[in-house]
Amino acid sequence: MDTGKAEAIGDEVRYYQRWTLKRIFCYVLYLFFAKHLPSANQLSFVGKYSNILRGVLCRNLFLESAKIVRVGKGVDFDNGCFVVMKDHANIGDDSLLGGPYAKIIIGKHVMIGKRCILINQNHKYLVEGFAGKEGKDIVIDNYAWLGHQVTILPGVRIGQHAIVGAGAVVSRSVPDYAIAVGNPARIVKFRNEETI
Ligand SMILES: CC(C)(COP(=O)(O)OP(=O)(O)OC[C@H]1O[C@@H](n2cnc3c(N)ncnc32)[C@H](O)[C@@H]1OP(=O)(O)O)[C@@H](O)C(=O)NCCC(=O)NCCS
Repeated sequence: MDTGKAEAIGDEVRYYQRWTLKRIFCYVLYLFFAKHLPSANQLSFVGKYSNILRGVLCRNLFLESAKIVRVGKGVDFDNGCFVVMKDHANIGDDSLLGGPYAKIIIGKHVMIGKRCILINQNHKYLVEGFAGKEGKDIVIDNYAWLGHQVTILPGVRIGQHAIVGAGAVVSRSVPDYAIAVGNPARIVKFRNEETI
């Protein structure tokens, strides 16, 4: 679904939301109601459907979203117009997805744990007063898994079937099938491609 559009201002690219009535309705409903409904861990039956409801609302806000996606309680994503979410992707409770200066692409069947931070933009720190922002896309590729409280920094790609351990801070891309842990995240082993 084409909800957002990239706009170039000088050397800055920024995604922006075209606010239709439907989108305003979905945003308000998400922000003041659906975002606060229980998570699947708190009340499994209600939580399961809350995650689906949040996913349905997000479909109208994100740059692109598949039909079946799950969004946990308290997930924060600015207005969402820079987020791409593919089939059966799952964002854990209280996670934070950066801002509109680059895309965040979440592949199919990706699992994102609780309280993860995917931050895709920086203040221009070489300029006085930090005037302006610049972003680099984040990609969490198909079937990857981020444990709880993982931080992903701008420009990082997490490869297909890769795992990032709980609490990691990832500043460099992680190849397919790798398991990376720690701060800064380092690869400790690879999953066996043949058994997956
Ligand atoms: C990444 C993970 C899957 C690896 O599990 P594992 O294969 O059993 O890993 P191991 O116990 O063999 O650990 C390998 C090494 O990495 C270290 N390590 C593992 N997980 C780590 C983590 N999260 N942070 C820092 N170091 C970690 C271990 O201490 C070990 O180091 P050593 O070889 O120096 O002793 C697991 O540790 C993890 O973090 N899981 C996420 C849990 C989670 O968030 N669940 C929420 C559900 S969404």
